[in-house]
Amino acid sequence: MSMIQKGSCDKSAQGSFSTANSSLSKDRLYGRHRGHPLRDRQKRLLADYLPRIKFPIERVQNPFTAFGKKPQALWLEIGFGGGEHSLAQYQNHPEIGYITCEVFENGICSLLSSLLKEEKNEIDALVPDMIRVWNEDARILIRELPKESINKIFLLFPDPWPKARHAKRRFVQPERLPLLHRILSPKGHWHIASDDPTYQEWVKKTMENQPYFKNILQTDKRPKNWPSTRYEQKAYKAGRYPIFWIFEKL
Ligand SMILES: C[S@@+](CC[C@H](N)C(=O)[O-])C[C@H]1O[C@@H](n2cnc3c(N)ncnc32)[C@H](O)[C@@H]1O
Repeated sequence: MSMIQKGSCDKSAQGSFSTANSSLSKDRLYGRHRGHPLRDRQKRLLADYLPRIKFPIERVQNPFTAFGKKPQALWLEIGFGGGEHSLAQYQNHPEIGYITCEVFENGICSLLSSLLKEEKNEIDALVPDMIRVWNEDARILIRELPKESINKIFLLFPDPWPKARHAKRRFVQPERLPLLHRILSPKGHWHIASDDPTYQEWVKKTMENQPYFKNILQTDKRPKNWPSTRYEQKAYKAGRYPIFWIFEKL
């Protein structure tokens, strides 16, 4: 893991987008922002380390410049949970600039803690070159990122919202397909996994007969180069079987 840069992002420019996007909070797609009360170490991670590793929104129009080194390509993960998949992809692909999004504070702390590893001090700790964390609604970035800037999108075990009256909260929506299509580079890939039967049917239905993506993989066996996540493990323990898809931009 390469760790070079210190203090990579400008705190002064952050926050303005949250206010500007308050309308998104009315149709929020996620549940809680926080689970267990945060321990002191977690509070320090959020206060002292997160602002330095946060994706700098002022660079959203030039996202390749948000990293310590120039990435060969950019990948985007939506709802990283505890960050297992993000961490593995970031470690396995040092040439990629990895932008990873999550709003759940306990999950954000898990990823930050794994990234910080043996370093003791959150204020002086080195910031990795090639991963940036977005701790707000991923839809803000999706709306602002330039056309064809992202090479892969990952949406793994999204909140299923199984009740029909909550269907609008599911991330996969017909009206979201052109937005993801816009930011993906030609032939870019969108990885989706879900263990929820309602969501599985929903993905199949939403992704058939649309002009934006073609299905190039649908399997119940996770591909080897596709790191596992906590929700995948929870699904197997509960006797549920995930489906893994790859959709390619048309
Ligand atoms: C069911 S969890 C799955 C976590 C992880 N991907 C896994 O497989 O273990 C879904 C996560 O997506 C996050 N999430 C949902 N909508 C989001 C959004 N619009 N922006 C960022 N994160 C979001 C939630 O906070 C939640 O932690």
